[in-house]
Amino acid sequence: MQSTNADMPARSLQPKPDSLFERVAWFYALCREYLFRDHTEEISHALFPPNGPRPGTRLLELGCGPGFYACRLSEEFPELRTTGVDLSETLIRRAESRAAARHLSNCSFQHADAHSLPHPSQSIDAIVVSRLFLIVPDKEGIVREIFRVLKPTGRVFVAEPTSGFRTRLPLAVMWLLARLTTSPAGKYREPQQADVMSHPDFTRLMKSQPWSAIDVHYDGWYQYAVCERGDGV
Ligand SMILES: C[S@@+](CC[C@H](N)C(=O)[O-])C[C@H]1O[C@@H](n2cnc3c(N)ncnc32)[C@H](O)[C@@H]1O
Repeated sequence: MQSTNADMPARSLQPKPDSLFERVAWFYALCREYLFRDHTEEISHALFPPNGPRPGTRLLELGCGPGFYACRLSEEFPELRTTGVDLSETLIRRAESRAAARHLSNCSFQHADAHSLPHPSQSIDAIVVSRLFLIVPDKEGIVREIFRVLKPTGRVFVAEPTSGFRTRLPLAVMWLLARLTTSPAGKYREPQQADVMSHPDFTRLMKSQPWSAIDVHYDGWYQYAVCERGDGV
């Protein structure tokens, strides 16, 4: 017997909540460009040998937003094959325009969820994650996915802000802008407040997978983790 709409669970009829990053992408792109710290040098140092990545090195940027790091790294290291992954299609389009304006042929973007990446296990050499854990529902699930897709020699660089005020302000402004520009008020999947992790919570999160090597450290504004996958035993 064919199922009818009446048989469908009510949950599937609910519209999915929108994304703030979709709604006010322009504002986040401005913050990324002019407000947030640029960690390109630290990323290169943590992920690549001193003479640069080997030709064909596969790099993912998870939650790439407007493609800041994906483009910068692809420009600096033409031997990379970079993919930026994000849930916001508007930000992906911005990232694609950014890459096109720089004539980058080694940089592409993909609409996907970092909780369930469309990449095969052990297929990726390097991953960059900047300012993503602040706003996702299942942080451990994402660390699990990072571990799954990395090759045994693969490394991940994570940078997460530590400053509550400086981090929460941009998100609060995004909520305000979204409310001022939508009528009736929309529903958004992001939290009202960014979840700035304490150092112990961040360390616990990053140690939730059996890395062969892990370095967790922090400075005034950010906490960082650099992890190498190893064989996972
Ligand atoms: C705070 S921004 C960080 C952007 C960029 N990494 C940076 O350093 O500025 C978070 C980004 O993650 C994206 N995002 C949120 N949840 C996601 C998910 N589950 N999978 C992939 N991207 C996600 C948002 O659309 C947004 O572009």
